[in-house]
Amino acid sequence: MLICHPPAIAASEITPEAVYLARRRVLFGAAATAVAAWLPKPSWAAALPGLLPGDRLNTWREITTYNNFYEFSPDKEAVATLAGELPLHPWTVKISGEVEHEFEIGVDDLIRRFAQQERIFRLRCVEGWSMVVPWLGASLAPLLALARPTSRARYVRFVALLDRKHMIGQRRDSLPWPYTEALTIAEAMHPYTTLVTGLYGKPLPPQNGAPVRLVVPWKYGFKSIKSIVAIDLVETRPATTWNLVAPDDYGFFANVDPSRALARGSHSRETRIGESRKRRTEPFNGYGDAVTGLYQGMDEADRL
Ligand code: MTE
Repeated sequence: MLICHPPAIAASEITPEAVYLARRRVLFGAAATAVAAWLPKPSWAAALPGLLPGDRLNTWREITTYNNFYEFSPDKEAVATLAGELPLHPWTVKISGEVEHEFEIGVDDLIRRFAQQERIFRLRCVEGWSMVVPWLGASLAPLLALARPTSRARYVRFVALLDRKHMIGQRRDSLPWPYTEALTIAEAMHPYTTLVTGLYGKPLPPQNGAPVRLVVPWKYGFKSIKSIVAIDLVETRPATTWNLVAPDDYGFFANVDPSRALARGSHSRETRIGESRKRRTEPFNGYGDAVTGLYQGMDEADRL
């Protein structure tokens, strides 16, 4: 896979995040702070990290023109154009398997039922590049709780759309389709595991996984599956797309780990899109304090 960088950004193209940042300043400015002082803090505010030290948000253009989405193309810069025609309405996500209550939910309904919050997370790709993205979404946990998982539910499997008509990359056997991913149930219930429907306060663009995708910020980006149509709770560890194709580079757990060299090379450093110097990759992508508990007592060799 080629690693290339988006071209320099013309001033005319930065409006979306400029508008967004201005709106944030109004929302979170002095007046809002005075009012907010006596408001109860939402519970997630304490739990989410926001912008980590040393990070700046990647621009709208960077986030939406440099995409991995093999259903359309392995060419990162071609994805935005190819994904533009994907029909997004109606779109439902089916929750089934080891649950007491199977159901299907429309994305509009999902957005109404689960308050969409800004969640700024790093995204670290196994290819060695990273971004910082202001997603809009909600924890996956309350959606799974609605289905009432049975005691046999140990893994959560996610399935992306299969649509050879619109996803032209699926006409080739570059990957086994549909793209699937999975987490342990504990990982899926972690508050950072997010179902994302937007970025920069706007609906998610098709190239970023519209209308609904997963974001698991402490894992390599391939775990953050796009354009989800089904969530299946299962008893045994399911096969997942990249793990089937190249298990040495794409482990099941795939927690960001700078100390572990994979087949494609060292993972100790990364290129933040938009920067020229390399950064040091952090264990768990910088979210270790919040997530290491998930792996306590687990042998390192068992969580590759
Ligand atoms: N989801 C699907 N359905 N298909 C894909 O090819 N690529 C993954 C992940 N989710 C992929 C996917 C990879 S390798 C990465 S790094 C991220 O999406 C990229 O997300 P982004 O394009 O929003 O930066």
